[in-house]
Amino acid sequence: MDYHPDFFAGAGSSCRANCEERLAVLRRHVRGSSLLDIGCSGGYYSFGMRERLPDVVAIDEVPELVEGCLRVQEREGTDIDFRCVGLVEFLDSAVRRWDNVFYLSVHHHIVEQEGNAKAAELLRRVSEVGDRLFFDMGQQNEKRCQGTLGGGCFPPWGTPRRRIG
Ligand SMILES: C[S@@+](CC[C@H](N)C(=O)[O-])C[C@H]1O[C@@H](n2cnc3c(N)ncnc32)[C@H](O)[C@@H]1O
Repeated sequence: MDYHPDFFAGAGSSCRANCEERLAVLRRHVRGSSLLDIGCSGGYYSFGMRERLPDVVAIDEVPELVEGCLRVQEREGTDIDFRCVGLVEFLDSAVRRWDNVFYLSVHHHIVEQEGNAKAAELLRRVSEVGDRLFFDMGQQNEKRCQGTLGGGCFPPWGTPRRRIG
């Protein structure tokens, strides 16, 4: 299963193409067997990686999103560990590491919620719970994202094992 069928309901074709392209890039670069998907939303990347990575934990702070993922999971028979929890609480209780961490288009929310300094510290902590961090900063037109860590644009995918902050 590449994604759950409801995911693109109402979305334009370019949105779908972008997501599929990102998923293909991710599939090429993940290693090992485990994934933490932070801010999983409707679970597109979690479901999309499940066949490649058998051990997936996916978190989001919005109950309706996690409930939606769980409904799809029941229908599709997958075994992803979806959890409704905020990033800070999750990191405070995280007792393991993952081969891959997706932190995709979430950090701008964290900056907004926590402020620049705390968000930078959380990004550092996110980089420490996995061997490979895949990180992006959302849309270029989301101005609040830009300049958070020194200005300018960030590459769409984080460099494995590179520490930020
Ligand atoms: C723009 S969406 C990105 C979804 C997905 N990662 C992607 O790249 O398509 C941001 C997601 O992060 C979640 N989120 C925002 N703040 C969060 C927090 N503090 N803890 C956990 N999830 C959070 C939102 O609920 C939303 O599902």
